[in-house]
Amino acid sequence: MAKIIDGRKIAQELNESLSLEVENFRGKNGGTPKLAVVMVGEDPASLFYVKMISQMGKKVSIEVEKYSLPEETSERELLELIDNLNRDRKISGIIVQVPLPPHINQEKVQEAVSPFKDVDCFNPINMGRLALGKPEFLPCTPYAVYELMKREDIKVEGKHTVIVGRSNIVGKPMALILLQKEPYANATLTICHSRTSNLAYYTCQGDVLIVAVGIPEIIKKDMVKEGAVVIDVGTNEVEGKLVGDVDYEGVRDKVSAITPVPGGVGPITNLMLMKNTLKAAEKLVMVNEQ
Ligand SMILES: NC(=O)c1ccc[n+]([C@@H]2O[C@H](COP(=O)([O-])OP(=O)(O)OC[C@H]3O[C@@H](n4cnc5c(N)ncnc54)[C@H](OP(=O)(O)O)[C@@H]3O)[C@@H](O)[C@H]2O)c1
Repeated sequence: MAKIIDGRKIAQELNESLSLEVENFRGKNGGTPKLAVVMVGEDPASLFYVKMISQMGKKVSIEVEKYSLPEETSERELLELIDNLNRDRKISGIIVQVPLPPHINQEKVQEAVSPFKDVDCFNPINMGRLALGKPEFLPCTPYAVYELMKREDIKVEGKHTVIVGRSNIVGKPMALILLQKEPYANATLTICHSRTSNLAYYTCQGDVLIVAVGIPEIIKKDMVKEGAVVIDVGTNEVEGKLVGDVDYEGVRDKVSAITPVPGGVGPITNLMLMKNTLKAAEKLVMVNEQ
């Protein structure tokens, strides 16, 4: 029987330890870490996500300040706001919700966020640092997977890890994190994507299989190795139900451990954003003291 990895329990433990860390920070420095969330327009998925971030902030006592700008905001106005937030000593971290309206260049905006406040790790400087093995911040979703692996004692060293998906927010940084010369990393990797022919040939070789594709239940029982650890990052809505990229019911009896959807990686992700915000706040204190 596979171990079902309980992401909600891990999130609860992380929540408790992070709340204590924030309390210590406040005791030492007086102020509270503050996350600025910038949103342009009213994309419903973004509105929902921002609400979730605000709730998470309350749980761990990190202040979340929302900047909701109208759809017609110009790129220059948005860049001016980011510049002000970069300079504001009370703001520890900044995230800019995507999608942005089509008249705004997303890359330009993401590059404008100071690398020291880039808690989503979208600034190319931070991605570059991660690629060089000297990360400032880790992108939240792969960071959540890494944290889950540590807490569940899932070691990849000496094993074959297969990642399906190479997006800039999940698959690619996941690979970079697991390539680090760090405990719970040092992975030997294969990365698959939409142009991989015979996906099953590769996924069947994964002692650890991490899937971030966005296609409901694309990974079937005959595509996983017996006894593998399967981590499903996918979140897809099918007929009003949330399902992963892995056929959970089909796969669970064949593997040694698996994350469910919902209740696996998802609950941990926003906590990593808060963890990054606290880290940014600590760094800001050090810089201000110099
Ligand atoms: N749990 C969380 O907190 C969390 C956070 C973020 C995302 N997610 C979920 O994770 C999933 C992936 O998100 P994403 O942002 O990485 O998606 P994305 O940007 O659409 O990237 C999907 C990746 O899957 C690859 N792919 C597509 N079809 C494939 C196929 N048939 N076979 C193999 N690979 C294929 C794509 O290949 P190409 O590069 O060749 O196009 C791409 O690299 C989604 O379900 C998303 O909702 C969950």
